[in-house]
Amino acid sequence: MDKLLIRGGKKLKGSVTITGAKNAALPLLAATILTDDVCVLKNIPTLTDVGTMIKILTRLGKNVTKENDVVTVRSSNTNKYKALYEIVSTMRGSICVLGPLIGKRKKAEVSFPGGCVIGPRPIDLHLKGLRDLGVNLKVKGGYLIARGEKIRGNRIYLGGHFGSSVLATANVLMAAVLARGKTIIENAACEPEIVDLAGFLKKMGAMIRGEGSHRIEISGVKKLHGCTYSLIPDRIEAGTYMLATAITKGNVFLKNASYDNLLALIDKLTEAGLNIERRKNGIRVRYTKPLRPIDVTTFAYPGFPTDLQAQMMALMTVTEGISVITEKIYPERFIHVSELSRMGAQIVLEGPNTIIKGVKRLSGAPVMASDLRASAALVLAGLVAKGETEISRIYHLDRGYDNLEKKLSRLGADIKRVKE
Ligand code: EPZ
Repeated sequence: MDKLLIRGGKKLKGSVTITGAKNAALPLLAATILTDDVCVLKNIPTLTDVGTMIKILTRLGKNVTKENDVVTVRSSNTNKYKALYEIVSTMRGSICVLGPLIGKRKKAEVSFPGGCVIGPRPIDLHLKGLRDLGVNLKVKGGYLIARGEKIRGNRIYLGGHFGSSVLATANVLMAAVLARGKTIIENAACEPEIVDLAGFLKKMGAMIRGEGSHRIEISGVKKLHGCTYSLIPDRIEAGTYMLATAITKGNVFLKNASYDNLLALIDKLTEAGLNIERRKNGIRVRYTKPLRPIDVTTFAYPGFPTDLQAQMMALMTVTEGISVITEKIYPERFIHVSELSRMGAQIVLEGPNTIIKGVKRLSGAPVMASDLRASAALVLAGLVAKGETEISRIYHLDRGYDNLEKKLSRLGADIKRVKE
């Protein structure tokens, strides 16, 4: 296994290109199941999660090739419908093959996705939405067994205890596009990745309105055709580099980053005193003065993203004053707190709230990556800690960040990947 060695103290300067969105790539790749025609997806990031989804599609009878950031999906066997435990258990996002398999092949057997370090990952909303479409769904031997011969449009409410669900919205959307009649999804997720999925489906011939709002309307069509489509940039990768620039007091241009998809983070960092400017093809981020502490609560989009909570906490650990970060989406998503504390951070955990007292400087230490975004927070802390930080188990980072250490190194960070 590889590890990262980081020597803190270098300011990040220069330009970094933001790649395609991981959380768009997974549902859009799954959506290619909805047609037997050739689909070409561009701006696909090189990530292990993308590799896992390609493996699942191959097992489902698709012939998939990836050349740099272009993925071509052809059909070879269209009768397969099983997504097996040994692959699905490595990536929760695999659950989004359920909807297109039911929509196109009218049956699916998908392993129940495991939980992960950020807390329980229920799928009750996925099951409720699909059952409301008339899908016969039962759980047997750790598998979801779905039969969709009787699928038809319906009005569905998809709000849960924590609000809307991104992948439940994706699954119901993909099951409904070929279902007879009209479907209305109330309390749908509004994430940009859902808008991107709807854009791809509409280019394939689907009839969808309202994507990006809490109410999505779908009129079922008989068939979808192949097409070529380019993904949106990854807003969480962009947000991570924005926070890396802030914590190192740097000056960085985030090429291809979408300003409009990051308004909650930009609002908070501007309040803290960071200089952030919208540019034609990206975002300019400049540290010009000491930052102020801020209070953040995570919410579903367009609220502050839970996927940037850990990285924001890393910044607040070295921001003078008292900050409060509250996690409303995954109340247990604080595995990074103990590791940051090992680096000298002063953080008090009170249920879903964390109170952070900024310190002058963190100190480098051997730490362990865990959740994808918690690992990114440790990288940010390492960029400013005194001395050397060694981050092990960085396969977590490789799931969601394309060439992280190379991009940071090109920006001036003292970071290298070594064999453990
Ligand atoms: C997506 O996961 C993202 N993953 C996650 O990013 C992200 O953290 C999450 O949305 C929230 O924004 C992908 O898109 C592949 P949810 P998803 O269903 O769709 C509860 C990353 O680091 N819930 O929107 O699985 C759930 O427990 C990953 O890139 C139910 O109660 O998340 C959570 O509290 C981590 N019942 C809340 O809803 C359900 O049936 C939001 O979860 C489904 C979810």
